[in-house]
Amino acid sequence: MNSEIVIKESINELSEYIGQLVISELSCKSKLNIALSGGSTPLSMFVYLSENFSSKIDWEKINFFWVDERCVPPDDDQSNYKLANDFLFKKVNVPRENIFRIFGENEPYYEAERYSNIIKDNVSYNVDSFSFDIVFLGLGEDGHTASIFPEQISILKSEEICEVAEHPISMQKRITLTGKLINNSRTILFLVTGVSKQKVVSDILSKTGDYSKYPASYINPNIGKLIWLMDKPASAGLDGFNLIQA
Ligand code: 6PG
Repeated sequence: MNSEIVIKESINELSEYIGQLVISELSCKSKLNIALSGGSTPLSMFVYLSENFSSKIDWEKINFFWVDERCVPPDDDQSNYKLANDFLFKKVNVPRENIFRIFGENEPYYEAERYSNIIKDNVSYNVDSFSFDIVFLGLGEDGHTASIFPEQISILKSEEICEVAEHPISMQKRITLTGKLINNSRTILFLVTGVSKQKVVSDILSKTGDYSKYPASYINPNIGKLIWLMDKPASAGLDGFNLIQA
């Protein structure tokens, strides 16, 4: 597996790294298909990119998709689309036609099918599935990623593009990309910050504890590259790794 661990002092330095990576990717492709995650971590990245890369990145050359979405309307504060729209898309020049949001307001099983077709129509095929250029992933303390929770780890191996998932505590329905699709991406970026993620990061990367129950442990790109982007608190449990320090 082609992977690396990049550790920076802060989310801003991680976001700078991400901005430069996007510029580098755009230098060799006319269009990028990027899939975003939700949760709280991406907010600071969106703010940094909107403040520091609004003119450095040719946003018109990027199509935005989502790794997962909560089954809520787009104006709901829990919406992953709303997070990106409020803190990035409203601040930089992303054409509306480049934004392919998951319709959280739709009936979930219908939307999983609809969004799968959107991906089929707009994302290139490579090897054995459709292939995003960049996929951003977060990491839950329970080892979930996207909306693939330990209780539904079978979604990793689904032959589908999207599946309907359910949050194990809130029972909230989610639409999520499957592990098969995520692992077929060219570049997968885990963006993980904060001391609360230290144990789960260490277990996954060291293959200790309950790592085998964690869906994030099975994110291994078939053909692409996996980059763990972390701050020092999240990565403090890693020793003996080939760490690319700030
Ligand atoms: C979501 C995300 C989810 C998230 C992790 C980490 O829709 O919630 O896609 O996978 O990335 O739960 O969330 P935090 O960034 O809030 O820790």
